[in-house]
Amino acid sequence: MDKNSKDNLHSNKDEDNKEKGTLTTRQGHPVRDNQNTKTVGNRGPATLENYEFIEKISHFDRERIPERVVHARGAGAHGYFEAYGSAGDEPISKYTRAKLFQEKGKRTPVFIRFSTVIHSGTSPETLRDPRGFAVKFYTEDGNWDLVGNNLKVFFIRDAIKFPDVIHALKPDPVTNIQDSERIFDFMSQTPEAMHMLTFLFSPWGIPANYRQMQGSGVNTYKWVNEDGEAVLVKYHFEPVQGIRNLTQEQAEEIQKKNFNHATQDLYEAIERGDYPEWELYVQVMSDDDHPELDFDPLDDTKIWPKDQFPWIPVGKMVLNRNPEDYFNEVEQAAFGTGVLVDGMDFSDDKMLQGRTFSYSDTQRYRVGANYLQLPINRPKKKVATNQRGGQMSYQVDNDENQNPHVNYEPSLMNNLEEANPSSKTYSPHVSGEVKKEAIDRQNPYKQAGETYRKFKDWERDELIKNLVANLKPCRKEIQEKMIEHFTKCDEEYGRRVKEGLENDKMDAADMDSTHGGPAGATQTKEGVEQA
Ligand code: HEM
Repeated sequence: MDKNSKDNLHSNKDEDNKEKGTLTTRQGHPVRDNQNTKTVGNRGPATLENYEFIEKISHFDRERIPERVVHARGAGAHGYFEAYGSAGDEPISKYTRAKLFQEKGKRTPVFIRFSTVIHSGTSPETLRDPRGFAVKFYTEDGNWDLVGNNLKVFFIRDAIKFPDVIHALKPDPVTNIQDSERIFDFMSQTPEAMHMLTFLFSPWGIPANYRQMQGSGVNTYKWVNEDGEAVLVKYHFEPVQGIRNLTQEQAEEIQKKNFNHATQDLYEAIERGDYPEWELYVQVMSDDDHPELDFDPLDDTKIWPKDQFPWIPVGKMVLNRNPEDYFNEVEQAAFGTGVLVDGMDFSDDKMLQGRTFSYSDTQRYRVGANYLQLPINRPKKKVATNQRGGQMSYQVDNDENQNPHVNYEPSLMNNLEEANPSSKTYSPHVSGEVKKEAIDRQNPYKQAGETYRKFKDWERDELIKNLVANLKPCRKEIQEKMIEHFTKCDEEYGRRVKEGLENDKMDAADMDSTHGGPAGATQTKEGVEQA
């Protein structure tokens, strides 16, 4: 038992004073004896008609569902989003007709799941890894999921490479050990990953906890207004608590004592009424290719520079309620990038398009075909479909006016009709040759170099130290390729990694971590920024 799992996690106050109920089976039968298996005599063999025992043990045998293939380790909380009703000095309706943003002070319930990416459901929360930041907004128009990370960029820009980057980062399929040689083998062939790696191996790769980190949608979406006009949009959550990251050494210190520190920090803060808050900002760009930029606005390895595309505040999110049951709410929660509401749309960002298939596909397998009937995933808005059946279906998603005999459409016998909104449909025009080809403006090094130069001295020192530690076990050709990439980002960056690797005198103790992160001083909002 983790010694930091404090008593107050279990102080379910009122429970002690309640009247006692009767333990039952799942069939509702009272259980007379929950201590002894039914046997022939009190020492004899067990009987097969021992329903109570078989029900109990066979349910236990099925307690787990498949872990998420990525982001398996997570923590969740409920709360609300409150709209500012404007986009800076502009009315928000200029950009989007999404109802949740329109009215100042309007609250929409949310559920958020934070996570680490690579390791399993009980792995330490101190590891160097991006952090997931997935928010489900239960809007009056149905659900909107914003499935983001703490970091603002990603390793790759085409969804077809996702299984490869994840396989490289996951443990070796033979040894089941994460291996930096496998990681850098892949990364050395993936120049677009340099920006993400620069963040990941700096203190930004180990946020101190979930409350003091940013969230970003990473991919480029669209907003659509009442006239059917679209803009490109990026989302950013900024923690009111400030930003705090850890050095490798600090993370290791925490990990010695507690591998659940981020979950615990979030749970306890909410229990004591110290509700974490984030402000939501957007960046907008007109909906075109922007040939004037040296990057493609649909490339998720790039930041949209803040000075050209200012952050516009549109609302705040407050987390004020812990889940009542981890499995039901946090484990079975299913977020996806395809889950948008009216006033939002997809951009042609190739990662976003690939992700949009992947989430609901994996959830039909991981949770089941009827995952959207579960309370945590179900919209608060009335659902009325003709979809029926499937494993674990427990209710008919009928409108009260719907004819229960008619599960098809069109029909003269039913009262269910297609929606007929007054707002204009957004119909982008697309033409071109169908091909497999990378985008033109790849520019893999410029922003990575800028990020390197923007870091504070201690952040750069940590970055170099962590990269050197992780590149040390790699074969020479991988080291050389990585040095070449870093040098193209910034001459000093490459030189320092090279010198680190050449320096035999380097303190071995500092160098023997495979993965983890840098140790961490405190960064506040006034400190270094990602964008
Ligand atoms: C989870 C696929 C890129 C953020 C997942 C899951 C899959 C997946 C299959 C597990 C979902 C589940 O079991 O419920 C992909 C693919 C990607 C991609 C195919 C690229 C093509 C990204 C990016 C981000 C991201 C760029 C950050 C913006 C997340 C988060 C979760 C997640 C936060 C956890 C959601 C939760 O808490 O349940 N992803 N992903 N993913 N992904 Fe991605």
